[in-house]
Amino acid sequence: MKRVITYGTFDLLHYGHINLLRQAKALGDYLIVVCSTDEFNWNEKHKHCYFTYEQRKTLLEAIRYVDLVIPEVNWEQKRTDVREYHIDIFTIGDDWKGKFDFLKEEGVEVIYLSRTPEISSTQIKNTLESETDFI
Ligand code: CTP
Repeated sequence: MKRVITYGTFDLLHYGHINLLRQAKALGDYLIVVCSTDEFNWNEKHKHCYFTYEQRKTLLEAIRYVDLVIPEVNWEQKRTDVREYHIDIFTIGDDWKGKFDFLKEEGVEVIYLSRTPEISSTQIKNTLESETDFI
């Protein structure tokens, strides 16, 4: 059984996220999604989420490719997560290319997946903010 792990905020869940999760699950048999908490997003990424951590977690759990959702609370936990959950493959979008190669030291395969062009949570927020005709 190949165990795969991925990390992200997953606010305003969109088709770019779904593409990423589908490809991540296809790499193995069991997919763990580590979802940033509201505190981690705000303190470390300076991002304010539209949906709370609990809401984002619930949405992720409803996706057929996702087997388990756990919280991301700091940058350092990746090393301990891959050990604790006996991970074979770490994967994430290629906007992070090269950033997590150090996990290979833990015996984990590191795979950067192509991002889906154009769509992002930030882009959705910006569009809704600027195009008041939507409402
Ligand atoms: N992702 C993707 N394609 C997109 C958007 C996101 O493959 N168009 C991937 C990211 O590379 C990451 C995961 O989805 O592996 C979660 O990304 P996240 O940062 O939560 O999504 P974004 O929409 O990029 O959010 P933001 O605009 O806040 O950065």
